[in-house]
Amino acid sequence: MSKRVGITITEHILSRQRENPEATGAFTNLLHELIVAAKVISREVNKAGLVDILGGTGQINVQEEAVQKLDVFANRVIIERMRHVGQLCCMGSEELADPIEIPAAYPKGNYILLFDPLDGSSNIDVNVSIGTIFGIYKKISEDKAKDFLLCDLLQPGYKQVAAGYFIYGSSTIMVYTTGDGVHGFTLYPSVGEFLLSHDNIRIPSKGKIYSVNEGNYPYWDEKTRALVDYFKGMGKESSKPYTSRYVGSLVADFHRNLLKGGIFMYPADRKDPRKPSGKLRLMVEANPLAMVVQQAGGYASDGRGPILKIDPKDLHQRVPLYIGSKEDVELAESFLSGRISSLSPSR
Ligand code: AHG
Ligand code: MN
Ligand code: MN
Repeated sequence: MSKRVGITITEHILSRQRENPEATGAFTNLLHELIVAAKVISREVNKAGLVDILGGTGQINVQEEAVQKLDVFANRVIIERMRHVGQLCCMGSEELADPIEIPAAYPKGNYILLFDPLDGSSNIDVNVSIGTIFGIYKKISEDKAKDFLLCDLLQPGYKQVAAGYFIYGSSTIMVYTTGDGVHGFTLYPSVGEFLLSHDNIRIPSKGKIYSVNEGNYPYWDEKTRALVDYFKGMGKESSKPYTSRYVGSLVADFHRNLLKGGIFMYPADRKDPRKPSGKLRLMVEANPLAMVVQQAGGYASDGRGPILKIDPKDLHQRVPLYIGSKEDVELAESFLSGRISSLSPSR
């Protein structure tokens, strides 16, 4: 148990700021406000069954998905809180087609916030863990006449200066990285503070858990099927299979595998011709978690190469995602590239 366990997230961020001579406090301010937004969302999630915040809004979002009331609430809380912080030049949300401008009345800054305000929406009404995912970039455009350009939002994931997520589950946990390891904080509800609970998280290099929606099996190509069959111990020789765990909230499946080891997969599938690359979004889901997992010693791939090196073409582009223990994800790449076609898990 590290001696630092129990320090507040604020002290943790400030200690990083003190170690960073050119830090201006802008980033600390930005992260702190995001934490306040998450506390507000967490409070609403924890009483969701008692207020009119459950269920659908009847609307369809840019992802062509039914919008849940909590999606709208979380999106609004983050936007309204973050736009007056004075540290952002723009934002991008999974819920909104276009970049979110900072109103003229508010000061601007040099950071960009990309976020999935509520991940795992299908689980909101059934009390399964859900979350918020975020990635933060530095502005790169230099057009003085514009607060931002699209290139500021469409940066490859390795350019993120910070990334992380909040899970609203049996407890509310924040996990984040600024490029110096991965740290987890648990919300102490009666105090209203996030306290360090997981100092310097490291993911096992190889796991025993695989996470995938097997209901998509009929829509996968042969290589994807061979890969999942491998994890099920159905390789040519019979051997000990991995354990299957899938709750349907990326942030919860990812967090479990981060702590215990394993691989989460959302492969490309033929289920919807409009989404040939699968369901998950590069900018607001894959890139932030790819930074976190890499900082924890793991790896994230689109099946061919690093997620973090993908040059984004669109704010809402989807990408196949294989993320978790490095050896498991590298093995997935071997199957999907055709370098191996079937192996027993005992290798
Ligand atoms: P979101 O609620 O932000 O749309 O994300 C839902 C995602 C992700 O959380 C999860 O891993 C995946 O949808 C589950 O998809 P399936 O139900 O198709 O398995
Ligand atoms: Mn999501
Ligand atoms: Mn979402």
